[in-house]
Amino acid sequence: MISIKSAREIALMRKAGEYHQIVMQRIAQEIKVGVTTKHLDDVAYQEIKRLGCIPSCLGYEGYPATLCVSVNDEVVHGIPGNRKIKNGDIVSVDLVLAYQGYHADGTRTFIVGEVPEDVKELVENTKKAFYAGLKVLKNGTRICELGRAIEEYAHDHNLGVVEELVGHGIGSAMHEEPDVPNYDDGSNIRLKTGMVIAIEPMLNLGSKEVYLDDNDWTVKTEDGKPSAHYENTVLITDDGYEILTGD
Ligand code: MF3
Ligand code: CO
Repeated sequence: MISIKSAREIALMRKAGEYHQIVMQRIAQEIKVGVTTKHLDDVAYQEIKRLGCIPSCLGYEGYPATLCVSVNDEVVHGIPGNRKIKNGDIVSVDLVLAYQGYHADGTRTFIVGEVPEDVKELVENTKKAFYAGLKVLKNGTRICELGRAIEEYAHDHNLGVVEELVGHGIGSAMHEEPDVPNYDDGSNIRLKTGMVIAIEPMLNLGSKEVYLDDNDWTVKTEDGKPSAHYENTVLITDDGYEILTGD
């Protein structure tokens, strides 16, 4: 069952989305050469608490941190630690918080200093792939159409589409039905006004293949090439959508 949010729930999710943007902006200010990924996590935790919100990932299935900070060939679920950010890194910050029981989920990939042109384009095109998906999104859009739009954009730009991880419904739980893949999975489920989903393309500069690191959390590219991630929490409306976690 895919939940349709009430007006009250939508108002709370909008609020959660506003807080998400505040925390993400705060993290963005801290990202610079020499800073540890743990420092970003500490800042995020304090900011979330200051705003009266809860860090949704901390303790989720035993996950040990507030943020997922995934650098370069790390696709998702990078665990914050004493790794220092270097010139030329791309750093994906995946943040989920809850406000009065409702979650907001979003990811930005930050470019640190100078990166090669193809890496810069990877980051820009991952964001554009998200927007290519939004173009087809409105009341009645099938899950497969959304996935196909994202996948087509990625393939037009020679990027690998990670298939092992997918977007998801979101609300009073961080992960709700339905799965929202970034490729055409043939799903004829229709998205309806009042549903809220996290759309999150994860695109690779090289092949789509990934593997799970020894820490049992972090997913990395098989070929060691960089991966970018862009994600927002999105409400479906009659004639389109409303992004709850900003741009
Ligand atoms: N945005 C990620 C997701 O949707 C958040 C994962 S939190 C973790 O899966 F606890 F699972 F790491
Ligand atoms: Co998500």
